[in-house]
Amino acid sequence: MIKLSSILNKILSENDPKVGTGKKPKGSGRRLYTDEDPTDTVSIKFKTAQDIKDTLSKTSFKSKSHARQSQIINLIHQRVRAAYERAKDSDVKRRLKTALDYAEQRKETSKEKTERLKKQKLNEQKQDIKFKVPKLNYSYTSLQPYIDKETMEEHFDKHFKGYTDKLNAELDEKSIRVNAEDQIQAIQIILGKYSKNNIIRNNGGGFYNHVLYFENMTPDYKAPSTKFKKMLEENFNSFSEFKEQFKEAGLKQFGSGWVFLIQKGNKLVIESYANQDNPYLDKAFKGKIIIAMDVWEHAYYLKHKSQRGNYINDFFRVVDYKVAEDRLKEKSITENVAPNHTGRAAPFNSGYKTVKERTEFGNKFGL
Ligand SMILES: [Fe+2]
Repeated sequence: MIKLSSILNKILSENDPKVGTGKKPKGSGRRLYTDEDPTDTVSIKFKTAQDIKDTLSKTSFKSKSHARQSQIINLIHQRVRAAYERAKDSDVKRRLKTALDYAEQRKETSKEKTERLKKQKLNEQKQDIKFKVPKLNYSYTSLQPYIDKETMEEHFDKHFKGYTDKLNAELDEKSIRVNAEDQIQAIQIILGKYSKNNIIRNNGGGFYNHVLYFENMTPDYKAPSTKFKKMLEENFNSFSEFKEQFKEAGLKQFGSGWVFLIQKGNKLVIESYANQDNPYLDKAFKGKIIIAMDVWEHAYYLKHKSQRGNYINDFFRVVDYKVAEDRLKEKSITENVAPNHTGRAAPFNSGYKTVKERTEFGNKFGL
């Protein structure tokens, strides 16, 4: 096999003004000579557009990788341009101009293909995600007498699973893939990015809200730790006032919805959301959920009938403050990244807007 450099020197001798000057045009083919396999060559001509077409139609060219083909096209383009700029004869100049236009067109097409391949590679790195109902850490009967077995069976087995299945079906249908470390990161990204799709909004929200709800209940109720209680007192004047406000938000929520204790920067707030909405939707991360309470009728009607207030009182007998406190330390997507326009996995922090906020909050509560 003859080295490309020697072939080039032969072929380019007529029109390549650099030959014989001891210099090559800046950047011309340097990588071809140094970075690549010296036996991997292709002979090129570029006096006319047809010459270039012939070169780029050769099997020896077509069999090369796209990266290598791009290098060769770029080299041809550089050489034709140099020859064109230096040509004196008007006929030669006209011929080289046609060749140059063609080389530019091929260079542009090659660049577009490079971009396409980059996107394809990025997409391949994203994963198909199948959301799964997490394992319940307690039995269906263990929250009794506050949450009854029948409600648990209906709620966990039917409703929660239903949201999860419908979410998966829609993601399949729309070929939505995400680059995420786990299903919690994935659902946060999906909710931020695809919340205009009502199937994803309702079932994605339904999935995530129920993950949080079932996780933040326990048969082994314990009062909040001194640290967490202090945080609640700081934000709601007293622990009992926190519970009152939480209950009130649940009673006021018209129709189906959720009440959340949310960390917003260095504050804890109580907010209610309709249907399966939550703070991760609509391209604006609006805080991290610390406690989630379902106020859909399916969460309480079998036992509590229309007495939502009684259900909320009972919820406070099974709420897991330890899980809530742990969530304050968990990573969550940032305000900026919730709807990351690239769709890539978001860098995580703890939901604080600034480092100063995090430091203040952390120092105050020893997190
Ligand atoms: Fe529910």
